[in-house]
Amino acid sequence: MTRPIYYKSFRSRKFEDFSPPKNSLSEVISKDSHIILDIGFGTGDSTIFLNKMFPGHLVCGIEAYKPGIKILDKRDIPVEYGDAVEIIEKLEAETISQIYLLFPDPWQKNKHRKRRLLNDYSFEIINRLLIKGGLFHFTTDNINYAFEARDVIRKLSSKKIDFSKHRGSRPITKYEMKGLKKRNFIFDLLYFKS
Ligand SMILES: C[S@@+](CC[C@H](N)C(=O)[O-])C[C@H]1O[C@@H](n2cnc3c(N)ncnc32)[C@H](O)[C@@H]1O
Repeated sequence: MTRPIYYKSFRSRKFEDFSPPKNSLSEVISKDSHIILDIGFGTGDSTIFLNKMFPGHLVCGIEAYKPGIKILDKRDIPVEYGDAVEIIEKLEAETISQIYLLFPDPWQKNKHRKRRLLNDYSFEIINRLLIKGGLFHFTTDNINYAFEARDVIRKLSSKKIDFSKHRGSRPITKYEMKGLKKRNFIFDLLYFKS
């Protein structure tokens, strides 16, 4: 299993002089609370939506894009800045009810695919973090990534999961709108841990 390679995009590097809050999700997440985690939330619209939709849950986010961190921090939504893989590696097992990975960067070129956030390494961690019955929701408009993600989940969970006919409770995001404008198909994978 190979750890996804963290690539700091130009979009992120532009904000070098902004210091993100030094929050640590490990301090917020515990077995006593109902946690929802939005990984790679961009400007945070999806996280804000989830926060409204699930008032009984503690909605948290991870992002490498500083302006997004700033937006959610102002709203008192717990966030941690940095590489999502490095952050989730440190979280306690079986503490999270729902994990969303919506429109992760698709890294289309073959030579860049090792940067994809979802692979067997990260899915194993995600699966470990979920409570029994917990949901992992992955969405992309990139057909190659969609099939790769489906196969990773199938292989590691031994479940014959397939693309969902509905988008469940996830919000519609900016990157989804971009994909739809290009007439791309949207693929949703909903995995429930047994
Ligand atoms: C294509 S955008 C999608 C944003 C949002 N989920 C949406 O659907 O509108 C991908 C986001 O993932 C973030 N990202 C990429 N790699 C990351 C990593 N290793 N750790 C944390 N965030 C990451 C990027 O900064 C970017 O904001």
